[in-house]
Amino acid sequence: MKGWMGKFRALFLFSSLALVLSGCGKENLSALKPEGYGAEVILDLMILSIAIMVFVFIVVMAIYTFVLVRYRAKKGQENYIPKQTEGNKALEIIWTVIPIILLLVLAVPTVQATFDLAEESTKKSDIQVEVTGSQFWWHFEYKGQEISTSQDLYIPEGERVYLTMKSSDVIHSFWVPSIAGKVDTNPGDNENSMYLEAYEEGVYWGHCAELCGPAHSLMDFRVVVVSPEEFEQWVNDMKNVDPKAEPETTVAQEGQELFQNNCLSCHAIGSAPKGVGPNLTNFGDRTKIAGILEPTKENLVDWIVNPDEFKPGNNMPSNLVSEEEASKIAEYLMQLQPSKITPESAKE
Ligand code: CUA
Repeated sequence: MKGWMGKFRALFLFSSLALVLSGCGKENLSALKPEGYGAEVILDLMILSIAIMVFVFIVVMAIYTFVLVRYRAKKGQENYIPKQTEGNKALEIIWTVIPIILLLVLAVPTVQATFDLAEESTKKSDIQVEVTGSQFWWHFEYKGQEISTSQDLYIPEGERVYLTMKSSDVIHSFWVPSIAGKVDTNPGDNENSMYLEAYEEGVYWGHCAELCGPAHSLMDFRVVVVSPEEFEQWVNDMKNVDPKAEPETTVAQEGQELFQNNCLSCHAIGSAPKGVGPNLTNFGDRTKIAGILEPTKENLVDWIVNPDEFKPGNNMPSNLVSEEEASKIAEYLMQLQPSKITPESAKE
């Protein structure tokens, strides 16, 4: 029975490990494929620590195998006990000093990188974004630009973007593995800061890395890295949004009215400060609905009618509007595309 349990445990361990590792397969959601300064520094440290571990493993296994072979009982040596060694000063010094050296080799660059990144993260830059984590979405406010948005954070390639981070409820953690390390967002006045510097244009997955409620695992977001020119264009487009602009089709116009009557108390369009719900200024450009669903109209209708089914514990009320009304609201929201610079164009 015991052997069977052991095998089962090993199998369980390996299959969970495989499951965890397969999660890293998502494009641009991998700390192992750094596309930004912070992520690069962190990967170097990971490689160093793994190299040390592999070295120790190989040395220990070699000694172990040698001892097994060299001191095994040979034929005719029943109850054989090899010579016992005890209190050997030289040996004890060796196996104390070697781990100390290994730890130093690991500690010096790690501590150095930690302090470097911490110091860098306090340096302000031209582009500053205030990030607020909320159950279960992200709000982004571009300082001095009067731009509010959520879920998709636009930044220019090759430039430092300084982020200040806070939370409107519980502790979350802002993590874009391919670009930088993770930083907690705290409730109250305890503001953290960090910066993003991405080397390549593209769309990068981000994730909340702090257990924050039932839908924590669904608190996804994206960082959309575009060229500096495109970023300037995007900023312009976003600044020129008229929140009251009338949509073209009648259905969308009806949707706009329904939206204004039912949704506007929580959601904003235009450069409003953070509300109860995500800012929807460029909703039609979003890479995902609610960070997780493909941006199709059917998905949006399903989401509006029953958000709790997709993101348990979120603050949006279910069945606030009928499916027919939701369909009109969806029509309105999908056409909110203020910029030609979209995640699609970043992906190419
Ligand atoms: Cu927010 Cu986990």
